[in-house]
Amino acid sequence: MSWRIKVPATTANLGAGFDSIGVALDLYLFIKVSPSDEWAFVSHSKHLTEVPKGKENFIYQIAEKVATRYGKQTLPPCHVELFSDIPLARGLGSSATAIAVGIEIANLLLELNLSERDKVQIATEIEGHPDNVAPAIIGGAVIGHYEDVVDYVKLDLENISFVAVIPEFELKTKDARQVLPDTFSYADAVRASSVANVTTAALVKQDWALLGRMMAQEHFHEPYRKKLIPHYDAVKALVNDDAHGIYISGAGPTLMILIDEVIAEKQLHYWRKTMPEHEWLVLKPVNIGIEVVDGY
Ligand code: HSE
Repeated sequence: MSWRIKVPATTANLGAGFDSIGVALDLYLFIKVSPSDEWAFVSHSKHLTEVPKGKENFIYQIAEKVATRYGKQTLPPCHVELFSDIPLARGLGSSATAIAVGIEIANLLLELNLSERDKVQIATEIEGHPDNVAPAIIGGAVIGHYEDVVDYVKLDLENISFVAVIPEFELKTKDARQVLPDTFSYADAVRASSVANVTTAALVKQDWALLGRMMAQEHFHEPYRKKLIPHYDAVKALVNDDAHGIYISGAGPTLMILIDEVIAEKQLHYWRKTMPEHEWLVLKPVNIGIEVVDGY
């Protein structure tokens, strides 16, 4: 009994889809799980240098939560090796990947036979919103709503690229949520939700120019969060003429450019040279979420 698990990073919000829309990307957390005498976590990744080594590990705690939910007392101990290409606390869904993996480990060890929907429901209850966890589990673009029960629609995406502009500094989601207003006027809510409605329609039609225009008119969070991202205006000005749109990925601080692949490849060298202080990564959407391979 041993498994390899692969789970994709995600980019959430896509402008106005705040807490609701996310896309799985071809950047991964890989793990190897094998039986052992006690729980042990080992990282082989530059992004995870200080992982808690035992039961205090977040992945173990998620797995334990799932075990308790299904009335199981213990999880057979395992040795878990982590290989992650996903930078932490940058708005690329690293905690969602950990949640997805924790649920999958409990599912495998306890033979729970969880459905895709069960996993999305459990993950959303843990995270509080489905925008990162749902695409990490099922892939593609996922549009979701959560209020006790999660409802969602998955779309397969093709023929579009995302360029992640990843700064060196971290931004905790908790801090990025603290700058958001507690209330919103009725008129503002109507305005913001009409942008969100067209955002969803543009995704369904894969009308990238329209989606980009909606990103520029987002009202729910970017006007409040952009002050936390000092390079926000400069990156926008640099890429604006080439991109369909640009938005804060999840809670930030990564900025995400929605762009055609050919243009991204053409401009990448110039952008990297102009702003070498950030990491520039061309990413593609992936329509498959978490995957498990028996043995290794
Ligand atoms: N939708 C979330 C946010 C993503 O923007 O705060 C990060 O959890």
